[in-house]
Amino acid sequence: MLLLSIETSCDETAAAIVQGGRTILSSVISSQVDIHAAYGGVVPEIASRKHLESIAPVITQALQDAGVGMEALEGVVVTRGPGLSGALLVGFSAAKAIAVARKIPFVGVHHIEGHLFASFLEQPVDFPFLALVVSGGHTHLYHVEGFGRYTTLGRTIDDAAGEAYDKCAKIMGMRYPGGALIDRMAQNGIPDAIRLPRPLLRDGTLNFSFSGLKTAVLQHVAKNPVAIPGQDADDLCASFQEAVCDVLAAKTEAAICQSGAMRLVVAGGVACNSGLRGRMATLCKKMGVDLSIPHPALCGDNAAMLAVPGDYYLSHGFFSSPSLDVTATWNMDSIKESLQ
Ligand code: KG4
Ligand code: ZN
Repeated sequence: MLLLSIETSCDETAAAIVQGGRTILSSVISSQVDIHAAYGGVVPEIASRKHLESIAPVITQALQDAGVGMEALEGVVVTRGPGLSGALLVGFSAAKAIAVARKIPFVGVHHIEGHLFASFLEQPVDFPFLALVVSGGHTHLYHVEGFGRYTTLGRTIDDAAGEAYDKCAKIMGMRYPGGALIDRMAQNGIPDAIRLPRPLLRDGTLNFSFSGLKTAVLQHVAKNPVAIPGQDADDLCASFQEAVCDVLAAKTEAAICQSGAMRLVVAGGVACNSGLRGRMATLCKKMGVDLSIPHPALCGDNAAMLAVPGDYYLSHGFFSSPSLDVTATWNMDSIKESLQ
């Protein structure tokens, strides 16, 4: 199907035109990050207003870049949740309006479903597989049996990995969101220069916790202020990254052992991280598991990724009703019931 995809769950207004859930004809991402950086994080009210300003131009641009007219569209896919309600509403209302006006079906999908299948835009992965989703709002391990058939094996009990990166970056005086900068600085630092905790490393569950690690960084900086640029800051970034990667790799290894998975997908904004990509490659080689991580350009929030599950749902008769609403919270495990 020729689909228009729309994503507005947080601070990116994005639209894409994708053919057959596979071929990206265009992908437009308008980021609000510079606006929110002044406040040290995403301000929901501002996010909604900026989405409202950007949604029509972004969709128009996606159609233009693809050389496609509205009349050629066969369906619309949009993020229904989770995310900021006001932000979600902008994309969801636009998707509904286009679908009703053009008399084509639309489907609302889970934001994390998009991340899960982003690598399918490059190379589809056989089901079942294990997935590690690491983003600003999620750090989850899922068993994926098929589209819509997800079981949570483990999750963060406090901060998400991306949230921990951004909070540590803020403690060190970096601009929001600081995940990518910590990654760059870590490459010049010594990973065992500073002793930091590995929370829940051997607790016997597949859950994660990152808030204690953030507190340890806060306490370290209170006693040893760091200047950027500087070797001390690079060492702290490298030590923090090593701690995050140690925990993510250990829990993923335990999940592979428990589930007997033969394939691993790593997805979400933090999947851009150079340390994590290297660790996952080493782990999968050791365990004889096939690894799939999207190109960094497809790891962060974008609309094209939604078209993979969207194409499956729409071509298998799973549509959303125009009376459906957005949902700020949404458990991935409950999706399978709605498909029965
Ligand atoms: O998936 P995403 O774009 O948005 C959410 O759904 O949350 O993820 C954004 C998160 C931010 O916390 C950002 O700091 C983090 O991904 N991030 C990184 C890197 N690039 C982005 N974290 C660590 N290393 C990176 N290279
Ligand atoms: Zn995301």
